[in-house]
Amino acid sequence: MSDRKKMTLPGLFKKVADGQPLTMLTCYDYPTAYFQEQAGIDIILVGDSLGMTILGFDGTLPVKMDDMIRHSQAVRRGSANAWLIGDMPYMTYQPSVERAILNAGRFMAEASCDAIKLEGGAEMADRVTGIVRAGIPVMGHLGLTPQSASALGGFRVQGKGAVQAKKIIDDATALEEAGVYSILLEMVPDRVCKLITERAKNCFIISLGSGPHAHGQLLIYHDMFGLYPKFKPKMAKVFGDAGKVILDGLKQYAKEVTEKQFPQPENYFTISEEEYAQLCASLRR
Ligand code: KIV
Repeated sequence: MSDRKKMTLPGLFKKVADGQPLTMLTCYDYPTAYFQEQAGIDIILVGDSLGMTILGFDGTLPVKMDDMIRHSQAVRRGSANAWLIGDMPYMTYQPSVERAILNAGRFMAEASCDAIKLEGGAEMADRVTGIVRAGIPVMGHLGLTPQSASALGGFRVQGKGAVQAKKIIDDATALEEAGVYSILLEMVPDRVCKLITERAKNCFIISLGSGPHAHGQLLIYHDMFGLYPKFKPKMAKVFGDAGKVILDGLKQYAKEVTEKQFPQPENYFTISEEEYAQLCASLRR
């Protein structure tokens, strides 16, 4: 176990005030959470991207609340100290403020999350306020919001034009006024992200593919280790090709079993001569 202290909201804001960039990664399972805990990652997001990275869907819409709770519980077991955010899946907060509060509450009560995240701007302000009033910290999510990918014209950069960029800035203001402690900006141009970061007074900004000017950075874990075979987003930096290591290992395993090189004596268990003789004698009776 690590000797880290539990990350709290004041702890996150202190790092921001001290000018230390925040580290944030997605995570969906116990062993990965264990490693992220050891690495001292500040914020872990159990993203509904698990619909793609873990469950193999083409998007996030099929992900259910029960999927998110199950994976968030596993992540919490692996990381006691990171600031843990549960990502509200599709249609668990859009229909009503009441539904949003009840589902946000499940993340806190059933998975020991520290906060929730939801997608959308001004149109989600009443959901944000309702959840915050229920005592649950909320992270907003602007720019490319995958649950609205169809309406946004696909998985593409948002805010390249001045009009659209102004709307994202206005949405960030609306979310801050509604009470978010943080906003994630996904695939927004760097200077738009800079403007939003400079304007943020009571919340901090996290960038996913939105440049270096935010208060912190997020990467999708599977992208940073070559673990998502369908595609690699342009913005993702690969910090190690775990996918290749695993594939090479699997091919070697198949070869060694086929060629009868595996298992070797150190890979299995034996019975003593005496017990074996007794066993054979008992079978002859
Ligand atoms: O689900 C997720 O992992 C996310 C990121 C894409 C920000 O929301």
